[in-house]
Amino acid sequence: MVLGKGTVMFFNRKKEKAQIDMSRLPEHIGVIMDGNGRWAKKRGLPRSAGHKAGADSLKKIVTACNKLGIKYITVYAFSTENWSRPKDEVDYLMGLLLGYLKDAENTLAGENVVIRAIGSRAELSEEIQEQIIKTENFTSKNTGIVMNIALNYGSREEITHAVRNICRDVESGSLKAEDISQEMISSELYTGGQPDPDLLIRTSGEIRLSNFMLWQLAYSEMYFTNKLWPDFTVKDLEDAIIEFQKRNRRFGGV
Ligand code: FPP
Repeated sequence: MVLGKGTVMFFNRKKEKAQIDMSRLPEHIGVIMDGNGRWAKKRGLPRSAGHKAGADSLKKIVTACNKLGIKYITVYAFSTENWSRPKDEVDYLMGLLLGYLKDAENTLAGENVVIRAIGSRAELSEEIQEQIIKTENFTSKNTGIVMNIALNYGSREEITHAVRNICRDVESGSLKAEDISQEMISSELYTGGQPDPDLLIRTSGEIRLSNFMLWQLAYSEMYFTNKLWPDFTVKDLEDAIIEFQKRNRRFGGV
């Protein structure tokens, strides 16, 4: 197409489709699944419909991560701050989570997913606490991706919980304060024994961490997208991974 003298634009240049480099996958992905409410509002639907669509989206993304060979995914399903939402929304989310955990025994378990809940369980209903144990046990022998569902989770609560546990050993005399190490703190977090996330994805255009994995995200690559969580597709996941693979991770070095 000739635009003016000497100005030629080529539309037929072969566009190379970016591909995921399977040898450099992130081992652990954290996800802040944001925008369910706005997704519903845009459609004139109740917020609950957005959460339901978000839960469906989550199933697709976890399955895709597992197929790709990602080892861990941690998803922010309910924060310690979410209790301040209207009671009917909290009740709906709790029902959805309970259903999701039950259903996972038929769906995600069959996909070889290991399901774990992270967060403070004591405030959850007995029914949910029992279902968490059942689903965790049911999937514990699986060998695929480990999916941590952050449920009544807050990073500051998690760190406080870890510090309390370590202090008990100091109080009993079995540990000296100067022997407390970063590894010890990591191992006392709910994600103890797991690698830190390499990549954090947050949807809906918000650019903040909202009390999610503050310790574990110290060196993670951040990927923010305007897509609302229920609209986030497997293609969007692939784009996030491709963007991650373009980053030069230095972990504080040069
Ligand atoms: C944020 O959207 C999302 C949540 C508070 C809950 C996340 C829950 C799900 C994705 C579905 C349920 C998950 C499981 C594991 C069953 P928002 O409500 O804050 O959206 P908004 O910012 O647009 O209002």
